[in-house]
Amino acid sequence: MKAAIYPGSFDPVTYGHLDVIKRAADIFDELTVSVLNNTAKTPLFSVDERVKILEEATKDLPNVKVDSFSGLLIDYAKSKDIHVAIRGLRAITDFEYELQIAQTNRKLSNEELDTMFLTTSLEYAYLSSSSVKEIASFKGDISQCVPPFVAKLIYEKYGHA
Ligand code: PNS
Repeated sequence: MKAAIYPGSFDPVTYGHLDVIKRAADIFDELTVSVLNNTAKTPLFSVDERVKILEEATKDLPNVKVDSFSGLLIDYAKSKDIHVAIRGLRAITDFEYELQIAQTNRKLSNEELDTMFLTTSLEYAYLSSSSVKEIASFKGDISQCVPPFVAKLIYEKYGHA
């Protein structure tokens, strides 16, 4: 069985992430979308909230599982016996950062963890969780960025319910 992990902050998931999830789920038999519990960042949504949001957003994709992890991705992947990480590439600005992480992970894992990049569909290339949060914080329209139930949750966090 071909399995992959799609790791990320997903704070919160956007249509750009969901596009990558759907396409990766078509390629692999099983895709685990995993939320990084990053203590260095102050997220808008807790890890549990992000997991629940992802579960709801991917409920129609039977081969997608949602999980969370702390620490190094290579250790998490090893614990699941998964050898491929998926990352989305929006633009050349993502590339340098992603290339470095992919190469580091391959080296650190003794070549056991490879990274596969999916180029984000053009209509979502401009999207980022950070810009979605900033727009929502000023009551801007995020209907083209995230599913309606996610938009509602973001507005609630900013007291715009
Ligand atoms: O959505 P993000 O914040 O761009 O995702 C980044 C992520 C989670 C893929 C990356 O930060 C990660 O894998 N962190 C876990 C720690 C780790 O393994 N670091 C080594 C790579 S240098």
